[in-house]
Amino acid sequence: MISFTLNGAAVSVDLPPATPLLHVLRDRFGLMGGKEGCGEGECGACSVLIDDNLHTSCIYPLGNVSGKRVLTIEGFKGSPQFQCIDAAFAQCGSVQCGFCTPGMILATQALLLKNPSPSVEEAREALSGNLCRCTGYNMIVEAVLLAAKNGGGLW
Ligand code: FES
Ligand code: FES
Repeated sequence: MISFTLNGAAVSVDLPPATPLLHVLRDRFGLMGGKEGCGEGECGACSVLIDDNLHTSCIYPLGNVSGKRVLTIEGFKGSPQFQCIDAAFAQCGSVQCGFCTPGMILATQALLLKNPSPSVEEAREALSGNLCRCTGYNMIVEAVLLAAKNGGGLW
């Protein structure tokens, strides 16, 4: 039995420790915000925060979350930080598709938790693990910097 905190609630799962966390989140808990894109840790569509750090859940073994805090986009949604990031993404026109946006938002949260006033370069670096093949990243970087500016005190 593997126990951890999922979106603020204590949960236990009886599955093989090597099961990818993404599959547990989707199949066991019905949390569909994280998507399986590449399945190889390359695209960021499956991103979650584990103890406040960004991880690709498609290659993260369930056994490794034992005793840790897992936050998915569903769990993050009600927070004031989410509201701030969401508003900044909307204002900058950087809301993209349902496939990459949850990962982009969680990557932004992971960055701002560590660095509430990132530079353009730091924002680009923080988003570099989240691939979008459709558009550029400029509007997303702008949104990250706007969230940092508007969210004074939230992070
Ligand atoms: S699906 Fe996990 S990184 Fe692409
Ligand atoms: S992958 Fe989502 S907008 Fe490009």
